[in-house]
Amino acid sequence: MRVLIAGATGVLGRSLLPLLRARGHHVTAMVREPAGAPSADLTVVADALDRDAVRAALLVARPDVVVHQLSALTDRGPLGFEVTARLRTEGTANLLTAAREAGARRIVAQSIAFGTAPVGDPVLTEDAPLYLDAPDEDWARTVQAIAELERLVVGTEGISDVALRYGTLYGPGTWYARDGAIGALVAAGKMRLPETAGGITSFVHVEDAAQAAVLAVESDATGTFNVTDDDPAEGSAWLPEFAAQLGGPTPRTIPADLAGRLLGWFTAYQLTELRGASNDRARLSLDWKPSRPSWRGGMVDDER
Ligand SMILES: NC(=O)c1ccc[n+]([C@@H]2O[C@H](COP(=O)([O-])OP(=O)(O)OC[C@H]3O[C@@H](n4cnc5c(N)ncnc54)[C@H](OP(=O)(O)O)[C@@H]3O)[C@@H](O)[C@H]2O)c1
Repeated sequence: MRVLIAGATGVLGRSLLPLLRARGHHVTAMVREPAGAPSADLTVVADALDRDAVRAALLVARPDVVVHQLSALTDRGPLGFEVTARLRTEGTANLLTAAREAGARRIVAQSIAFGTAPVGDPVLTEDAPLYLDAPDEDWARTVQAIAELERLVVGTEGISDVALRYGTLYGPGTWYARDGAIGALVAAGKMRLPETAGGITSFVHVEDAAQAAVLAVESDATGTFNVTDDDPAEGSAWLPEFAAQLGGPTPRTIPADLAGRLLGWFTAYQLTELRGASNDRARLSLDWKPSRPSWRGGMVDDER
């Protein structure tokens, strides 16, 4: 098949591209800057927020399947959230319009498994409500953008759709790598553990996430799928172990009511309220299972 990856230079895109080529697919990398782009069968240049450029790129590539791995979360600040939200709304709309015109039959888009509202069971399915009214402006905007991405993808006539809701990525190049935004904080002993850290994180290794994208490209299944490991974990469990794996100090405990101020809204929410995400649907319909069923023991082995 002819497959186009939008976001081919990213953490996920770089893992996915060689996997697809090894499966015999003709892979086009859509990039903003050709210098340093990963090796592909074809490279096209477009900013995903430039509708005309995306259209021209897809008309050259003529993909059967478009894979949307766009994000701007290398910048953890408000700008990263803002641009990522635009990539999920405008960027998705641009890709879909161009995909239809170029004759693509399928889109596989990147979403998140941790956008659910913190209500109900500790581990939630894809049917759980999203946290559209989160009290934090950046997070509400992020979740609203996810909802819009999934609505656009599912609603485009003539194109079969998959939204892969990745769990919290770990592995090389991610925020949880030794030199990543979270890994470096934890390794330096700068992360704190709220005394009630019952929020649940569902992790997934970046290579397992990429493998799920390969299966989604090749499958006829449609809908949203959580791509998460088998071991959703409370903050009180994963954070101290992550610190130990990094060789860092055990995170100091702080009163729960100071967590928002000391850690920032999202991290406090992640550690105290977030729900985990079940991967049953991806196992059943995509025939995917994580090669790393648990984050325990292996979150930072890659860097050693
Ligand atoms: N699901 C999660 O767990 C999650 C949640 C929060 C944060 N994160 C972190 O975010 C990163 C996620 O990895 P990722 O592969 O999703 O993202 P990534 O490594 O940031 O890659 C994003 C891709 O999107 C491209 N891109 C950005 N803006 C673009 C634009 N306007 N037009 C065209 N392409 C554009 C980038 O291209 P350029 O090379 O041109 O920039 C890059 O190829 C990791 O660091 C992860 O730890 C992940």
